Amino acid sequence: MADVAVIGAGYVGLTTAVCLAHLGHDVIGADIDEDRVERLNKGEVPILEDGLPELLAEGLASKRLRFVVGARNAASVADFVFLCVPTPQGDDGSADLSFVDAVAREIATALRPGTVVINKSTMPVGSTKRVQRVLAEAGAPHEDVLVASNPEFLREGTSVRDFLQPNRVVIGCTDTSVAVRVSELYRNLNAPILVTDPASAEMIKYASNAFLATKISFVNAIANLCEAVDADVREVALGMGYDQRIGFEFLYPGPGYGGSCFPKDTAALLYAAEQSGYDFSLLKGVVRVNREQHERMVTKLTALVGGSLSGRTIAVWGLTFKANTDDLRDSPALVIVRRMLEEGATVRAYDPAAGERAAELAPGLEVGADPYEVCHDADALAVLTEWDAFRWMNFDRVAQMLQTPTVLDTRNILDPAALRRQGFTYEGVGR
Ligand code: UDX
Repeated sequence: MADVAVIGAGYVGLTTAVCLAHLGHDVIGADIDEDRVERLNKGEVPILEDGLPELLAEGLASKRLRFVVGARNAASVADFVFLCVPTPQGDDGSADLSFVDAVAREIATALRPGTVVINKSTMPVGSTKRVQRVLAEAGAPHEDVLVASNPEFLREGTSVRDFLQPNRVVIGCTDTSVAVRVSELYRNLNAPILVTDPASAEMIKYASNAFLATKISFVNAIANLCEAVDADVREVALGMGYDQRIGFEFLYPGPGYGGSCFPKDTAALLYAAEQSGYDFSLLKGVVRVNREQHERMVTKLTALVGGSLSGRTIAVWGLTFKANTDDLRDSPALVIVRRMLEEGATVRAYDPAAGERAAELAPGLEVGADPYEVCHDADALAVLTEWDAFRWMNFDRVAQMLQTPTVLDTRNILDPAALRRQGFTYEGVGR
């Protein structure tokens, strides 16, 4: 079992740290946020993530896991240092690597010979080389410090499961013996391990996310066409999904994709394509369809309330970028809410996890603590996130609360026939 440092205790770093401790390694998690470190050492998880509290408690109790402030001390006693710091989107779409560079400079002279630094966060092609260079420039013993790429494929909400039951583990490294050492960390997982060169490993991450985004934009485009020709996209997706070459996953139409990864990673890939002189028109189309899909929801809602949102009151269920997370980053729901507010609507929203933080991100938005209360006297209800609880609401009560029983179901999670029987005007996506 290895001594591991995980730098950064966000979604990716925290999941990596608790899961590696669960696999039997000795793990030190590092973060710059003192408060976060203190809370983690007490077993408090700052994010909503299934399974994380249990594994954190297990790691702390077994003494295989602890958290410290600052990267340097953690890195100085590690055989493997995972870089899990943010790589936010720069103004031009490129990934901003300033946090990565700063950590590399901070840890460079503290590393022991033979330590492997592992890029876990999503970083552009060329970042493995770049980290190696920054480490060397900052005084790391060049021959002895090795860098590998080991991208994550963790979905928020199921990140623990995705880590412990991965479809694959990808390791990009120029030195096969180092790749073998990294693969040993995952010895207890039942997954194929792909060892490749760093550039290919980095590209695998971007290509995977861009492909999934493409699938979503494709099915959203088909949904829009279904509306025009009176077909039901859910039947269409089912019929497509049985073809094993296509598969069922990521074929759910909706208000467009969001979150901390797809919008950022598609932008970074487009930036990289542009830099290398390749016109990636397919991916540009994917991004455009996604933007149009957000706006299409606003158009649908406008039509439902009689042609103008001005002076209307809209109840909203769901603000996070998808269900089972409290993450609001790049949430399509917030884009749609902001557009409604711009058009002059009053918007009252309920979300099981996002809470008051959402109001700060969409000035003017009223956030309520009760899904029925936000419907009071509203002209329509818009369901923007697919929280399971929304399926099981008492829609007779919702109908009584609304001024007119009208619902826009952007996630296709409700039963149109049942709602229509209850007197609702129902509108979904592509059905
Ligand atoms: C994603 C990738 O799945 C993961 O592998 C990567 O490492 C990080 O980014 P995540 O951002 O947590 O994970 O969300 P994901 O479940 O992939 O959904 C992304 C967006 O697509 C959400 O807005 C979701 O609502 C939307 N989506 C997903 C659809 O609209 N339709 C679908 O069929 C699937």
